[in-house]
Amino acid sequence: MMPLAAHDHESGIRENPGSHTHDHGGTSDATVDMVTTLAGTVLPNPVLTASGCAAAGRELAPFLDPAALGAVVTKSVLLRPRSGRATPRMAETPSGMLNSIGLQGPGIDAFLEHDLPWLAARGARAVVSIAGGSVEEFAELARRLAGAPGLALLEVNISCPNVASRGQVFACDPLAAADVVRAVKAESGVPVLAKLSPDVTDIVAIAGSCVEAGADGLSMINTLLGMVIDTDTFRPVLAGVTGGLSGPAIRPVAVRCVWQVHAALPGVPILGMGGILSGLDALQFLLAGASAVSVGTAVFHDPSAPVRVLAELRTELARRGITRLSDVVGAAHREPHR
Ligand code: FUM
Repeated sequence: MMPLAAHDHESGIRENPGSHTHDHGGTSDATVDMVTTLAGTVLPNPVLTASGCAAAGRELAPFLDPAALGAVVTKSVLLRPRSGRATPRMAETPSGMLNSIGLQGPGIDAFLEHDLPWLAARGARAVVSIAGGSVEEFAELARRLAGAPGLALLEVNISCPNVASRGQVFACDPLAAADVVRAVKAESGVPVLAKLSPDVTDIVAIAGSCVEAGADGLSMINTLLGMVIDTDTFRPVLAGVTGGLSGPAIRPVAVRCVWQVHAALPGVPILGMGGILSGLDALQFLLAGASAVSVGTAVFHDPSAPVRVLAELRTELARRGITRLSDVVGAAHREPHR
C-alpha cells in the first residue's frame, strides 16, 4: 500500500503513514479502532476462534483470555452427547490437516450447564455453533439456547462433511440450507450465521438462499472434503475414510469464497475463516469482505494464535496508516492499490 498525503477523516485511513511514525512507520497500534459489527452484534475486535478447534474455549484458557477475543465460537453442539467417528480421525496433510471427528460433543444439556456459563463467567462473547441431522433438531437446539446468558450469535453448521450421508450436508443444497436457516430463525433470539461449505458449484447461490431464508450473516468456509491413503497399508488413513481439510492449504479457496459472496451480496455480514495463521492472512479476509475472522487450525500448533493474529492485524493496519478496521472491510473490491 503506497503512502498518500494527508488524513482522510471520512475513511479513517491515515495517509502518509511515515509522518505518524511510532515504532513501525505508520500510526501507533493503540490508535487503531478494532471494533467491528458482525450481523448487528458489536464486537471489540474482529478475531474469533473457529468452531471445532477448542471445544467451548476452556482448552485455550491457559494460553489466552477468551474475553480478549472478538468472541469464542464453540464446537458444534448437538441435541444429545455424541462420541463421533472411529479413530484414527486426524491426519496431517501438506500445509493443513484432515479431521474426521464426526461432531463429538457433550450434547446441549451439558453444554448449557457447564460450557456456556463458563464462557459467560469470564466475560467472553459466545457464538454457539449448532448441528443436527434434521431441520427439527436444528430448531430444537435454537429453542434450547434462546435466552442463554453469554450467547451473542448462533452459527448454524449446515456444512460438516463428516456425516454419514452427503444428504445431511444441508449446505450443498440451496433449498435444504434455507429450510434449516428458516427453522432456526423462527426460534432464535440472537442473530444467526449460516456456515457454508466450499464443496459446491455455486456458493453464491447457497449464500443467497440462506439470506433469503433469514440468515443475518454467513460463516465461510467449512472444511473441504478430502482423503489420504496410507501407501504401506494401502488403506485410507482415516477410519471414516474421508475428512475435512483445513489449514493454510485451503486459504486461497476461502478468500475466493468470501470475495465472491461479498461481491454478489455486499450487505451481508461475513465471518471469514480458512487457514488463517497471521495478521496478514486475517487482513486478506477482511479485504475480501469479511467483517470478522475465525482462527482455527492454527491453535493446534500455537494455542495462543488468535490473540497473536489480533495483535499482528492491529500492527499491520497501523503500519498502513489505517485507524479504523471497519474501513478495510471489502476494500479489495473498491480501492485500487494505493
Ligand atoms: O467432524 C466434525 O466434528 C467436524 C465438523 C465440521 O467441520 O463442521
